[in-house]
This record gives sequence, structure tokens and C-alpha cells, in this order.
Amino acid sequence: MTTGELILRRPDDWHLHVRDGAMLRAALPHSSANFRRAIIMPNLVPPVTTSQDARAYRDRIVAAVPDGHDFSPLMTLYLTETTCPDDVACAFETGLISAIKLYPAGATTNSDRGVRDIDHVMPVLERMALLGIPLCVHGEVTDPDIDIFDREAVFIDRVLRRLCERVPELRIVMEHITTEEGVQYVWESGENIAATLTPHHLVINRNAMLVGGIRPHYYCLPVAKREKHRVALRRAAVAGNGKFFLGTDSAPHPDGRKESACGCAGMFTAPNTLSCLAHVFEEEGGLDQLEAFASLNGAAFYRLAPNEERIRLVKKTMPFDVSAKIDTGEGMLTVFDPGFALYWHPDRTYRADPGEAATKTRS
Ligand code: NCD
Ligand code: ZN
Repeated sequence: MTTGELILRRPDDWHLHVRDGAMLRAALPHSSANFRRAIIMPNLVPPVTTSQDARAYRDRIVAAVPDGHDFSPLMTLYLTETTCPDDVACAFETGLISAIKLYPAGATTNSDRGVRDIDHVMPVLERMALLGIPLCVHGEVTDPDIDIFDREAVFIDRVLRRLCERVPELRIVMEHITTEEGVQYVWESGENIAATLTPHHLVINRNAMLVGGIRPHYYCLPVAKREKHRVALRRAAVAGNGKFFLGTDSAPHPDGRKESACGCAGMFTAPNTLSCLAHVFEEEGGLDQLEAFASLNGAAFYRLAPNEERIRLVKKTMPFDVSAKIDTGEGMLTVFDPGFALYWHPDRTYRADPGEAATKTRS
């Protein structure tokens, strides 16, 4: 039985890891079934640092899209201290890439070739500001003396504020923000600063990872923070402020690499992202804001038209069941468990009437 319905433009994912090889083929269909476009993270081994790498990776992704799925990868380049401003400019102007990704060296999975000293990448950043190329930022400092739970707030104070002073026109996406400081910074800055929010940081706080035993499938970077931060992120998501939009940061790792003495950071959320988001937005009394968050705000920031196609989510009395584990050919992959039953289901049979209203809600 259906007790609610939500029709919205097909969403996009503004921060996604799809990996390569067997993992790409296993993970990608869970995104391409739901999203029309996704900003593809370049942290492969070795990373996607040149336009040549990006073209080859884009082709491998396109080849892995299942028949019947309409999905476009939006490519990024991994910024290094030797990135060539001309290569970046040309890759953007020919439509090959949509953004550049800044990883502080050592901040997260496969970030060793990231940036150690922001001074070394100023020529690239200045060129990007001129051309309007967005910089996607993993906003955490890596100093060993900074507590891991403080690394985002310290990044804002020590790196981001300075960067915005030095290159005020640069268009920046603070990715996967996890703190009230992050929300406040983005909220108060100019129109050129936006942020993505992940479904998992709207659902869990750090207790999910640490109470009753250590639960490696809830470990990601930036690490989930205390409850007051989750509350701030939820408020931002439903506020109807165009600076906040969806970037799932769905980041698959085989179970053997997560359930380890030194487990990898990253959660695989793609299969149930939309169900989790509808649940969260309904809890916050903001279902009517889900379309802006998932389907409109990100496209507007990236200066792209929103998708014309509509999808339908239905709320049922029976929970939405995704497989807890997927066999990838590179090991089993655990799907994010929000810790509660999900009643919102994507209706895969839905085909919109032409001219259907952008958002229709009933619950
Ligand atoms: C990401 C990954 O596994 O590539 N991990 C994560 O915890 N989010 C990298 C990243 O986005 O930080
Ligand atoms: Zn990520």
C-alpha cells in the first residue's frame, strides 16, 4: 500500500566515487539507476591528473553504464602541485571536465599526491577563477597535532578563509561538510561558495561508529561528528538555500579493506540514497525541499540546466529492501545501513506525463 508520493526532477550527484574495473561495473549501476549526472571523483590509483587521464576514465565509465540507463559522468581533475593551468583551461573549455578537486595531501583515501602548499597551485587557481571553473575542496587539514574531529573547522579558519581572500572570485564547493562551522561559513559567504552534504552525515553521528563496538562501515572522511553537527547539517539541507546540495560521496571499498586493523574510509550509499533522503526530509518537515536539494541547486551552481525527466518516490507500508551486500568480483561490498527501516521507494516503472508539475507531494 502507498501512503505518500513525491515527484521530482531526476536528481544529480555532485560528489561520487565509482572507482574502476570490476568495482566500477558493480557500483556504477546503483548511481546510474537514480541519477542523471554525477561529478566523478578523480582519486584513483594513480589519480586522474591530466585531461588525457580524464578522457580515458570517462570512456571507461560510459562503457560501464548499463543499457537503458541515461547517465553522464561529469569529470574532474585531481589537483597536484604540478598541474598545468593550460591543460585545465583546455579541458574545461572543451567540456571534458566540470571541476578540479583539491585534496590536501594525506587527508583521505588516495590523496598522497594532493596539495601540500597552496602557494604552489596559485597559478592554476587564478586561471580557474578567471574561467569560472569550480574547485571541489576536501576541507580538512592534515596536521598531526590537530584532532581529527576538528580538522574541518581548522581548515576553514586556516586555509579556506585565506584562499578566499587571495582568489575572491574562485568558485568553491566545500564538499561533504560535516560541522556547524562548515554550514555557517558557507551560509555567510558570497554566492561563489557552496557545499555538498552527504546522506550519511544527515543520518548518523559519531556514536553509530563507536558505541557498542567499533563499526568500520560507518567510518568515512570527514569522520561523522557529534549530534549538534548532524542537526546543523539537516537544517541546512531543508532550508531551501541554493548553496547546499546533494553530493553522496558514495565511496565503495570491498569489505576486506573496511573490516581491517587499518580500515579504509568510505561508505557505499548509492543504492539507498534517495530512500534515506526522503526519510530525513520528511522527518525534518521539508519534503517539499528535496527537489531543490537533490535536483536543482547543484545544477544551478555548476551552471547546467536541471534535468527535464521526472522520477517518482512512493512511501509504502513495507520497507524498501536493498541487498545488504553486493558481490563485486573484487570482494563483497556492504551497503550503508541507516539503522532504521526505509519506507520511501523509487518507483522504477514511473514515466511522467509531459508537462507534469515539477514537484508534487502527498504524504
Ligand atoms: C573517499 C574514498 O574512499 O575515496 N572516502 C571517504 O571516506 N569519503 C574519499 C573522500 O571523499 O574523502
Ligand atoms: Zn569523496
